[in-house]
Amino acid sequence: MRIGVLTGGGDCPGLNAVIRAVVRKGVSVHELDFVGYRDGWKGPLEGLTMDLGIAQVRGILPRGGTILGSSRTNPFKIENGVEQIKENLTRDGVDALVAIGGEDTLGVATKLADLGVNVVGVPKTIDNDLSGTDFTFGFDTAVNIASEAIDRLHTTAESHHRALVVEVMGRHAGWIALHAGMSGGANVVLIPEVPFDIEEVCNLVRKRFETQYSPIIVVAEGAVPREGGGMTLVSGERDAFGHVRLGGIGDRLAAEIEQRTGAESRAVVLGHIQRGGTPTAFDRWLATRFGLHAIDAVADKEFGVMVALRGTDIVRVPLIEGTGELKLVTPAEYAEAEVFFG
Ligand code: F6P
Repeated sequence: MRIGVLTGGGDCPGLNAVIRAVVRKGVSVHELDFVGYRDGWKGPLEGLTMDLGIAQVRGILPRGGTILGSSRTNPFKIENGVEQIKENLTRDGVDALVAIGGEDTLGVATKLADLGVNVVGVPKTIDNDLSGTDFTFGFDTAVNIASEAIDRLHTTAESHHRALVVEVMGRHAGWIALHAGMSGGANVVLIPEVPFDIEEVCNLVRKRFETQYSPIIVVAEGAVPREGGGMTLVSGERDAFGHVRLGGIGDRLAAEIEQRTGAESRAVVLGHIQRGGTPTAFDRWLATRFGLHAIDAVADKEFGVMVALRGTDIVRVPLIEGTGELKLVTPAEYAEAEVFFG
């Protein structure tokens, strides 16, 4: 069998580790051939391929990004997109696809599987917002980067008696903010799932300044003030999957805190630093195991599924279980973090 591999959506540390595991086990155990599709769904749509074998995956385990490239191409938004993909797969002699991606890439995989394309999904995203799996790879790396940033910001905030607001990614889910805020000892964590009251945040900031410490406020890019105004956007323009670009809540909040409390406040936006560079050991381990199990599913001809972490086991679940609805922070999980506010 000849297998196509693609990576789609926002890149994420650990993508190369999945590709390596898929190819290594696919060649050595299942005697499969591979072709790499470039730039997400754009690859099979436009017939953009690259060689993919043992030679191409040597040395890529610790490398960030993806050797295959990525994009947010949505074939369902392109006229005859699905037919083009099917034609190109036939032309390339590809029997099945391994699609590595988040809600959008795997959402396309779910629909293609319903239309008869042989596909196995691997869940990736730094946002950790895919249902069906306990964790996605990339998330641990993003949390570690954000947590280290918070550690560093504590000392400079204290030197200058400033409030520092740290804006982290995560889109509509507060997982990065929650985990990084808790592990970094933030004084307030604000997540999209729980609209926040700016005056309450200011009270926590005032309270913190009563000690010798300075407040660190972690805010998820999708967090929304209860006062209204909705999510803060970099631009209202939507991508092929209908997503707007979030960003700016950090600056907005820092300005409000400074105005209302009189304390000097600054915002730090971590942005794509959270997605770049080498994966943590946990993400390499998870990504590698996902890759090994994904290619086993292909060899078993069990399509329309994605691999998922349940406890310490890797299982196969229908693709729709991962893409049907977003996994969000529960009130109980947020309440655990609230104990440390102020
Ligand atoms: O989904 C991953 C993610 O990094 C989100 O946290 C963020 O909102 C978005 O992608 C940013 O996307 P882009 O790559 O288009 O800047």
